[in-house]
Amino acid sequence: MSIAELNLFPLCLGGNVFGWTADRDASFAVLDAYAEAGGNFVDTADVYSAWVPGHSGGESESVIGEWMALRGNRDRMVVATKVGSMEGRQGLSAANIQRAVEDSLRRLRTDRVDLYWAHVDDPETPLEETLGAFDALVRAGKVRHVGASNHEAARLAEALEVSEREGFVRYEALQQHYNLLERGYEGALREVVTAGGLVSMPYFGLARGFLTGKYRPGVEVDSPRAGAAGAYLTTERGPRVLRALDRVAAGHGVAPATVALAWLAAQPTVATPIASARDVEQLRPLLDLAEVKLGEDDLALLDEASR
Ligand SMILES: NC(=O)c1ccc[n+]([C@@H]2O[C@H](COP(=O)([O-])OP(=O)(O)OC[C@H]3O[C@@H](n4cnc5c(N)ncnc54)[C@H](OP(=O)(O)O)[C@@H]3O)[C@@H](O)[C@H]2O)c1
Repeated sequence: MSIAELNLFPLCLGGNVFGWTADRDASFAVLDAYAEAGGNFVDTADVYSAWVPGHSGGESESVIGEWMALRGNRDRMVVATKVGSMEGRQGLSAANIQRAVEDSLRRLRTDRVDLYWAHVDDPETPLEETLGAFDALVRAGKVRHVGASNHEAARLAEALEVSEREGFVRYEALQQHYNLLERGYEGALREVVTAGGLVSMPYFGLARGFLTGKYRPGVEVDSPRAGAAGAYLTTERGPRVLRALDRVAAGHGVAPATVALAWLAAQPTVATPIASARDVEQLRPLLDLAEVKLGEDDLALLDEASR
């Protein structure tokens, strides 16, 4: 069965905030609001949020698992998580994947992962071994679909060939850095995705918050993302893209964040952009994505500003 069977909501809710910039209560509020709006697709990883002092990874999965258990809504949610980047669970060897998935299932309080991502490429492990391990998990019913994140075009193409040759499950989606300010995906990688019939689920859809328009000259933003996000202000394209976003957003009566995600959603191969929110107020404009359709003029203006 293809990934289309998952009937994904137009916005994938990014889970790296859960247990990081959103505590348990704030996370539950965001998840509740997302689900109430019809949202069904949450993205996390075993490693979230290991970068927080005192955390070791698994915090985000645990929050999502507890929330689904309390709400009794596991069957209507589509849960995506990742393997390969967590300390002690690094890489894509078969042994690592087998152990990591059990840990994730336990934290998520479920018996299956709907979409399991290879978080980063692992050149040390033969693709046959990685894909064979994913194939076994799908056969065992522990995983429904698999995807590749942060893979180069040639390696993704090679992985698809290996799946074909060996009769293994194949990557059906690519998760990569892509937004109005980061368009590197639009080259060889998109060609492989298109030729292979995969879909794209871009992360950092909001350029870590920059494309919400809250980073402006002279404005101080209180966020652990402020360094990387605020840096776009010092580029030539950053302010130019913000001006275009402001204009299109005003035309539609929505927030710049909505337009940034709608632009992504309108790009070839993109199935659903991923973005996170630390509270319900932040989430509202992201949910508006489901209601907004950009016209050709809007898309052209944004395209030009971001080149
Ligand atoms: N595969 C990978 O390697 C990879 C890498 C990174 C991320 N991801 C996935 O992609 C998801 C999204 O990444 P991300 O959350 O770091 O970046 P993002 O979606 O580009 O930015 C989201 C952040 O922008 C800010 N924001 C969102 N809506 C806002 C609003 N309406 N008003 C003001 N600020 C707003 C919030 O950060 P502040 O409150 O901190 O400003 C929010 O956490 C992650 O949760 C994760 O699931 C995957």
